Amino acid sequence: MLHPTCGPAGEHHVENLFSSIASRYDLINSVLSLGRHKDWRRFAVSLIGPSQGDRALDVCCGTGDFAIELARAVGWQGAVKAIDCSEPMLEIARRKAEQAGLSQIEFIKGDARCLPFADNTFDCAVVGFGLRNIPNFDEAIAEMKRVVRPGGKVLSLEIFGLRGHWCSALWKLYFGTIGPILARILGGNTEAYRYLPQSVEYFATAEQMAREFAAQGLVDVQYRKLALGAVCIHVGTKPLGKTASTSIRLVNRTERTWRDERKRIER
Ligand SMILES: C[S@@+](CC[C@H](N)C(=O)[O-])C[C@H]1O[C@@H](n2cnc3c(N)ncnc32)[C@H](O)[C@@H]1O
Repeated sequence: MLHPTCGPAGEHHVENLFSSIASRYDLINSVLSLGRHKDWRRFAVSLIGPSQGDRALDVCCGTGDFAIELARAVGWQGAVKAIDCSEPMLEIARRKAEQAGLSQIEFIKGDARCLPFADNTFDCAVVGFGLRNIPNFDEAIAEMKRVVRPGGKVLSLEIFGLRGHWCSALWKLYFGTIGPILARILGGNTEAYRYLPQSVEYFATAEQMAREFAAQGLVDVQYRKLALGAVCIHVGTKPLGKTASTSIRLVNRTERTWRDERKRIER
């Protein structure tokens, strides 16, 4: 079956879709994630722990929330580049960064599969809810790996849904039916929010994504499931040498790790 991005407008389908919902994206994101999306990004950034002065990249940056988290972590001496294919999303991101006084972020229009940066430029690269929208997302992971330095981190935060989970029927009802209705009420494009559950359904599983990170040559691949497993964070490291062997590990969340995670978020 075709990936839902393979519409009549071809390559520009996703770009047009996100451009059409740009002004409502943040509000609808907050409602659909039940207010959790900012915590997920903050937690994700804490997992790769950028230092003051680091250079960080946000791929598929949308309205810039991940880039803003990264900019806070790398501070004034650091630099953040953020790339997206939708100019209306980028315009909102630029406005938000300016309002937050974060001039160390540069927002650039471009394609995640062909990043306009030299090899080994960044200390880390993140992508938030982006890979699912790219039919050949392996190319985007390869590009992220290419532009981070050896020892640098590549991270993806993504929705995987609840396939085969005891509450998958509830998930389908929420994302397949209630989501598009809520999006319409909030002034979004219903069509675009029908795309959301489709893009999740046609996408890889969290386990396949972990294997793809390893297949692209990232080592020490770890993934964590959030929101009952509907959302997942994958982290891999660019090896220091050519011969490094990889490992894939699902980091289980216990009550204790959850408390630790909360502390990190609230820091
Ligand atoms: C669901 S939004 C996520 C935005 C943001 N990262 C966040 O965390 O909220 C997906 C973004 O990916 C962008 N996108 C999709 N395909 C892309 C590609 N091939 N290259 C660059 N950006 C892309 C879209 O324009 C959209 O802004």
